[in-house]
Amino acid sequence: MGTARPGLPQLVVVTFALVALFGVGVHGRNHIHKKPHGDGGAGHRGGAKGGSTVVSSPAVPPDDNGTPLVAPPPPPSGSIVPSDPATPAQPAEQCVFDVREYGATGESTADDTEAFRAAWSAACAVESAVLLVPSDGTFTISSTTFSGPCKPGLVFQVDGVLMPPDGPDCWPPSDNRRQWLVFSNLDGMTLRGAGTIEGNGEDWWNLPCKPHRGPNGSTLHGPCDSPTLIRFFMSCNLVVQGLRVENSPEFHFRFDGCSDVLVDGLFIRSPANSPNTDGIHVENTERVGIYNSKISNGDDCISIGTGSYDVDIQNVTCGPGHGISIGSLGVHNSQACVANVTVRNAVIRNSDNGLRIKTWQGGMGSVSGITFDGVLMENVRNCIIVDQYYCMDKRCMNQSTAVHVTDVSYANIRGSYDVRSAPIHFACSDTVPCTNVTMSEVELLPFSGELVDDPFCWSAYGIQETPTIPPISCLQDGIPDSLLDNPDLKCR
Ligand SMILES: *[C@@H]1O[C@H](CO)[C@@H](O)[C@H](O)[C@H]1NC(C)=O
Ligand SMILES: *[C@@H]1O[C@H](CO)[C@@H](O)[C@H](O)[C@H]1NC(C)=O
Ligand SMILES: *[C@@H]1O[C@H](CO)[C@@H](O)[C@H](O)[C@H]1NC(C)=O
Ligand SMILES: *[C@@H]1O[C@H](CO)[C@@H](O)[C@H](O)[C@H]1NC(C)=O
Ligand SMILES: *[C@@H]1O[C@H](CO)[C@@H](O)[C@H](O)[C@H]1NC(C)=O
Repeated sequence: MGTARPGLPQLVVVTFALVALFGVGVHGRNHIHKKPHGDGGAGHRGGAKGGSTVVSSPAVPPDDNGTPLVAPPPPPSGSIVPSDPATPAQPAEQCVFDVREYGATGESTADDTEAFRAAWSAACAVESAVLLVPSDGTFTISSTTFSGPCKPGLVFQVDGVLMPPDGPDCWPPSDNRRQWLVFSNLDGMTLRGAGTIEGNGEDWWNLPCKPHRGPNGSTLHGPCDSPTLIRFFMSCNLVVQGLRVENSPEFHFRFDGCSDVLVDGLFIRSPANSPNTDGIHVENTERVGIYNSKISNGDDCISIGTGSYDVDIQNVTCGPGHGISIGSLGVHNSQACVANVTVRNAVIRNSDNGLRIKTWQGGMGSVSGITFDGVLMENVRNCIIVDQYYCMDKRCMNQSTAVHVTDVSYANIRGSYDVRSAPIHFACSDTVPCTNVTMSEVELLPFSGELVDDPFCWSAYGIQETPTIPPISCLQDGIPDSLLDNPDLKCR
């Protein structure tokens, strides 16, 4: 922290004490960072006279009723996290780079992109810097990649409103239409704040190429790229905390090529009929915690793609939406591997699926070590579903290989299902059956009306530790010989 001004330690201590006492963030008005002179040369300002102050952990976003969702959690061990006001032993001194000091207007109709880029360059060069989006503005920026490497401990703090241009017509033609905010090549970075990231997604959802949005409810062909709102790429030791993120044109969050990721206390919201607006998508990413978050949208609440390992999901409330999904995996005969995913203490309501594993015919690899424990369903179609015949256009041929689904445990899954679909559906591959599926304390009752389809169960091996409600009858004992030592199913 080479930027602490001599003579300021008392201010830091006093500020810190106030933060600790009142839990109030120190925002723009308290920053004492000096404005850089004019230009965009901010990238070389590592030794600049940035003032130091302390920035608190963000407030957790309120839910619909204004009640805070959860208390901020302890930081994960092993990753770099700004010190928390609750542990005043070592107050971190943080140099604040307020985007207004770099020329941002916060007037929503103006383009503040250049100011954000300059503030990023400056903050990136300083250890434990805070790039601050102050609470009293609405900042519009166009598609931007914020890349590292940066000095450790960088915080991108959104206390105001941050948004992309409003829809495809306003998207600068030269900008990437598949992503908006990208954080890339970073180690030890936090995105947080008490503010809102507003995706302005509506006009994207209504493009005529989106499902049934064309003339007379048709779906027009042609390129239909829409931006992922926030993407983390090739980065590690990430914390995303406390933000409200709404109305993404497509996925709200996507993590690919990352490791050691903590997501906590997010509030993600888009309409139930917004296409492809997955809440949090993870792929080729290891050691991920997703905690204490509330997600409602038009697609998967959380989706887990290939190359995801050691994913821990706790205290998440989903719905409306399409539930928590592993897959789809193995498309175009690809190898896919997902292992060690845990979902605990989740609530899923008014969703098209609950807990889903979906793979294409013809894939290779495996989905293994999946634990669903303590999930409350409310009016959910397909509460528990493994679909190894996943197919987008209903014209897929059965093939002789598949991604192996094994060591999957469902425990304490209770609540109510939407009777339009069977609450339990295991459609496993003929050639590569699902194995070691364990069911314990699975009790699902109709939300209203009578069960239309009985539970479906095909080509699945495993045990019921307690009888499920409704009953299923097809889990077979043992493991079929054909699966032993099949090299196509190996991962790592
Ligand atoms: C939409 O449907 C109406 C009534 O069927 C028809 O008259 C009209 O031509 C259709 N429009 C298009 C663009 O297909
Ligand atoms: C599974 O993932 C958790 C983190 O969610 C990790 O603590 C645990 O060590 C992993 N287990 C194995 C067998 O890798
Ligand atoms: C989940 O919620 C419980 C109860 O509020 C809390 O004790 C626990 O710490 C939470 N888990 C995580 C990982 O934050
Ligand atoms: C694929 O296999 C399943 C299970 O045996 C069967 O129900 C389905 O009809 C088959 N589909 C095709 C297209 O052959
Ligand atoms: C079956 O899966 C469970 C996890 O759900 C695992 O603990 C157990 O070791 C597996 N059994 C075998 C025989 O692989």
